[in-house]
Amino acid sequence: MSGLSALRERYERFDPRAYLDNNYGPPRADFSSEEFVVPWKLRCLADTFGTGEIHGRTLIDVGSGPTIYQLLSACDHFEEIVATDYLAVNREELRRWVRGDPGTFDWSPFIQHVCKIEGRGEPWQDKERRLRARLRRILPIDVHRREPLGAPLQPRADALLSAFCLEAVSPDRAAFSRALTNAASLLRPGGHAVLLGALGESFYVAGPARLPVLPLDEGDVRRALSGAGFELRQLRSYAMPPALRTGVDDVEGVFFAHALKAGGE
Ligand SMILES: C[S@@+](CC[C@H](N)C(=O)[O-])C[C@H]1O[C@@H](n2cnc3c(N)ncnc32)[C@H](O)[C@@H]1O
Repeated sequence: MSGLSALRERYERFDPRAYLDNNYGPPRADFSSEEFVVPWKLRCLADTFGTGEIHGRTLIDVGSGPTIYQLLSACDHFEEIVATDYLAVNREELRRWVRGDPGTFDWSPFIQHVCKIEGRGEPWQDKERRLRARLRRILPIDVHRREPLGAPLQPRADALLSAFCLEAVSPDRAAFSRALTNAASLLRPGGHAVLLGALGESFYVAGPARLPVLPLDEGDVRRALSGAGFELRQLRSYAMPPALRTGVDDVEGVFFAHALKAGGE
């Protein structure tokens, strides 16, 4: 438990703007090639949501942070997107983007890129409008609670998304597995989970905050998903090229997983 309270204290120093610049500015957000990490992530999401198999009324994103890139392909297939984060500063950053306040992070190159790879010729402004309209709830969450939202989500979500959250908030493998199980309680049986996360990472920085990360390998991801009652459908991984090892973390790679929660029809 002391691991968790120390981590909570460290998160109080998390600077959303520094986090965004470190991870969603150049060189990581270089759209010229899928050898760069951001377009690789967007491709995984576009391919998986592009099948049309994952759809429904509600998608919940666990640990959204100050980012919306992870919702760009998903938002076409759900009536409502629920974003969540532990920190009020991140929830406020998301609200500012939804309102279109001046000075918020510029996601337009991400939206343009996603429209391009989805290949439907959709004007990017239409996708931006759709995501803003569907992102109606931005809620506090703590994945270390049995009820992460403090009350049950009713009805439960048809899909669960989580990017770079669970390993960044868990002091050890047992806590990671419990956090996944807690997050999975928000998802209906038979619902889809889509996870992105760090491989082999032990820390990242976000301004004055230096956050410990649980270094995972693919086997850890498989075991945690199976232990939380999921059937794995797809697992891809990406090796971080030397040019993108910029010192803001020590991430070795990224995984992308698509899994199905047991108990559906
Ligand atoms: C590495 S960031 C990931 C942000 C974003 N999803 C992305 O893809 O870049 C980890 C996020 O987990 C959030 N977080 C910290 N403690 C948490 C907790 N106990 N439950 C849920 N989220 C938490 C942080 O506020 C932060 O936004």
